[in-house]
Amino acid sequence: MHPAAMPLPAHQLTMTVLMTPDTANFAGHVHGGTILKLLDQVAYACASRYASRYCVTLSVDQVMFRQPVHVGELVHFMASVNHTGNSSMEVGIKVVAEQIREQSVRHVNSCFFTMVAVDDERKPTAVPPLQPQTPDEHRRWAAALVRKQMRRELEQRFAALLQPSEGTSASNGPSPGPISGPSSSPVG
Ligand SMILES: CC(C)(COP(=O)(O)OP(=O)(O)OC[C@H]1O[C@@H](n2cnc3c(N)ncnc32)[C@H](O)[C@@H]1OP(=O)(O)O)[C@@H](O)C(=O)NCCC(=O)NCCS
Repeated sequence: MHPAAMPLPAHQLTMTVLMTPDTANFAGHVHGGTILKLLDQVAYACASRYASRYCVTLSVDQVMFRQPVHVGELVHFMASVNHTGNSSMEVGIKVVAEQIREQSVRHVNSCFFTMVAVDDERKPTAVPPLQPQTPDEHRRWAAALVRKQMRRELEQRFAALLQPSEGTSASNGPSPGPISGPSSSPVG
């Protein structure tokens, strides 16, 4: 069957995973890393299917786990390409946990990945421009543009934090300095 015959448009994708006992952390809830890995897989699947290209993860915005996900629940990942640049795409993912026996659902997380399509030499390559159609798609496109701008600003502010400030001397304590290689110190 040709992918175009699939019920979802090319820029959207959903994936559902049952949280089995091997996903548990020491508290008995689902390990955050399990969800992060699944999010990355969903972002990859959504972006690469849309672009018909191999894609790499450039960044992921703040991921906040507001409530735990429990073993035995179904976790639904609803992904969509919200915005396209030349080679980059913003993929938004909404995560909903479903309690099977109670038949209840709750929104546990939403996050945004920036994925870049690359060619066989792993160089960025153009993706088909997204054409928002519905009011929701127009709203997501506009919001993605704002986030893109915020990411740029955040990156500049982080870079400024890593610069030694004027007037800082050895007597004021060590400055973290620029990241130039592996270090055991945390960044910040
Ligand atoms: C993603 C990658 C291919 C981009 O390479 P690059 O040399 O920076 O390429 P470009 O400068 O042409 O940028 C490509 C796109 O990424 C965007 N981009 C690159 N660096 C960025 C940054 N710091 N912030 C925001 N966007 C950025 C560019 O705006 C561009 O988007 P556009 O084509 O839609 O305009 C490269 O950084 C890479 O391979 N990263 C590693 C990815 C990876 O391995 N991920 C898994 C980690 S385990």
